[in-house]
Amino acid sequence: MRIRWLMALLLLSVIGIGGFTAGSLVAGKVGSETKTVNKEDPTGLMKRSWPNTKWWFWTPGDTVDNSWPVPYQPKQPIAFSHKLHAGKMKMDCQYCHASARKSKSAGIPATESVCMGCHKVAATDREPIKWLANEVKEGRAIEWVKVHDLPDFVRFHHKPHIQAGVTCQECHGQVEEMEEVYQHAPLQMGWCLRCHQDRGAPQKCYTCHY
Ligand code: HEC
Ligand code: HEC
Ligand code: HEC
Ligand code: HEC
Ligand code: HEC
Repeated sequence: MRIRWLMALLLLSVIGIGGFTAGSLVAGKVGSETKTVNKEDPTGLMKRSWPNTKWWFWTPGDTVDNSWPVPYQPKQPIAFSHKLHAGKMKMDCQYCHASARKSKSAGIPATESVCMGCHKVAATDREPIKWLANEVKEGRAIEWVKVHDLPDFVRFHHKPHIQAGVTCQECHGQVEEMEEVYQHAPLQMGWCLRCHQDRGAPQKCYTCHY
């Protein structure tokens, strides 16, 4: 990993001598996108052709799980449905992911204070809710499996995005229609950069790298 880092930085500095700066490298214009979601290609990234995609948008991409674009969708301990809670019941995302607008992580809700607020009375006869109540009684935290995971050398905070009005769906897809959450976006460097370029957000290496 460290070697690849050094190699990539070395390569970029060599290009730098050729008259480019890292800033102008990433400032090129990218072709327009269609907004219709294709299940095979949810972000539209795959169908971008060479003239529209600069090679440096792709090179750092190979740290990502190779199974993408088959979206990563781990099995969760119980069948908690966003489609039901956020879709049908129209609960606000930030009711459960309350720290998104004020910190680095969006946060996963605590079972006792958030879920049991309703499930002390709602659907108490159902198996998953009995299990939930028992976990709370036994003082165990639910081991939800992390869906999104950036490498440690990347700095990502929810706060500036939410405050700049970027919606959850732009990065996570239509979560309110998902029975089980899956990774909608590739989370590759080029994906971050394309949006930063479109929105005039910072694109310097140290914006996202420590
Ligand atoms: C009733 C509470 C609740 C609401 C409302 C809710 N979520 Fe969640 N969310 C959870 C729980 C619990 C998990 C962890 C289990 C899972 O992944 O399904 C989770 C997981 C997630 C994940 C995956 C996190 C990871 O591991 O990477 C994303 C993304 C997410 N929610 C986005 C949203 C969005 C967007 C909305 C609004 C449309 C929303 N959530 C509404 C409770 C909620
Ligand atoms: C600019 C893109 C972007 C936006 C907007 C965004 N997220 Fe995320 N989200 C991410 C990335 C990237 C990760 C993985 C972070 C990591 O691994 O450090 C993540 C992780 C999460 C997680 C897992 C727990 C955590 O915080 O690491 C949840 C839950 C989540 N997001 C919910 C939301 C909700 C709810 C919203 C809207 C209020 C939202 N996100 C908006 C990109 C985004
Ligand atoms: C605003 C109230 C509310 C909150 C908060 C809430 N739920 Fe629910 N949940 C419901 C209701 C109501 C139902 C039953 C819907 C129906 O009639 O099928 C339900 C259904 C469920 C089911 C499906 C039960 C079944 O098999 O039929 C699960 C699992 C579940 N909730 C888990 C959770 C978890 C985990 C949390 C916390 C992250 C949570 N809920 C937070 C109201 C809530
Ligand atoms: C859908 C658009 C979008 C995507 C995707 C996106 N960002 Fe952003 N990002 C923004 C916007 C808009 C801002 C706010 C810029 C501002 O406040 O001027 C921002 C701000 C930031 C900031 C704070 C910059 C600063 O110094 O104020 C960091 C760090 C950041 N993004 C990292 C990332 C990373 C890492 C990814 C990919 C994992 C990513 N972003 C993906 C739109 C996006
Ligand atoms: C907007 C955020 C953002 C900016 C700006 C950014 N990167 Fe990245 N970078 C990322 C993300 C996210 C990853 C992780 C991608 C992955 O896991 O595939 C990454 C990965 C990398 C890697 C690791 C490649 C690998 O395969 O291990 C290198 C090297 C790198 N970036 C160099 C740079 C350099 C040099 C710049 C400045 C020209 C830069 N990055 C600017 C977000 C950013």
